[in-house]
Amino acid sequence: MRAVVVYESMYGNTHQVAAAIGAGLESAFEVSVVPVAQAAPAVLADADLVVVGGPTHVHGMSLESTRNAAAEAAEKPESDLRLEPDALGQGLRDWFGSLGRYPAKAAAFDTRLHAPAIVTGRASKGVTHLLRAHGFEVVAEPESFLVTKENRLDPDETTRARSWAARLAADVAAAR
Ligand SMILES: Cc1cc2nc3c(=O)[nH]c(=O)nc-3n(C[C@H](O)[C@H](O)[C@H](O)COP(=O)(O)O)c2cc1C
Repeated sequence: MRAVVVYESMYGNTHQVAAAIGAGLESAFEVSVVPVAQAAPAVLADADLVVVGGPTHVHGMSLESTRNAAAEAAEKPESDLRLEPDALGQGLRDWFGSLGRYPAKAAAFDTRLHAPAIVTGRASKGVTHLLRAHGFEVVAEPESFLVTKENRLDPDETTRARSWAARLAADVAAAR
């Protein structure tokens, strides 16, 4: 079975989580982890499971304006944030706009600030909605992985992401 993890990331945190999810899925899948800017629709062609995630910006999925704001923040002299190589490429919203319909199983995740979701919002809710709109069968609740206000992953979030993905892999494998 084949799984594809598609991620958007400005500062690398969602990238780290995506890599950990990829590692967790390897128990049951041959896995590709692909930045959204490089995720041509063909990458999904024979996927049995697609996992999609991005950073929460302004309570939801990023926009071109919020990605530009994130880049400007990283470029300030006092910032120690480093932009991902693909940060200014297309975001998940644009990517979904170019996708057809897919029958694969799917799940969504996001990164967001460490505070109640009612305060922060969750990009994974919007991702889940778009997955369903494109015909995917969503097989897990959207999951968030948390960052500090300095935009660093909380300790142990990559471990938690790997465990979440291993459970997802086992559930999908058992349902076949
Ligand atoms: C422009 C902008 C808006 C943001 N808005 C939110 C928000 O509404 N809620 C939240 O939890 N985090 C917000 N954040 C923090 C991001 O969720 C955080 O930067 C992201 O999870 C880090 O992931 P990345 O390193 O993959 O970009 C915002 C960040 C930026 C740059």
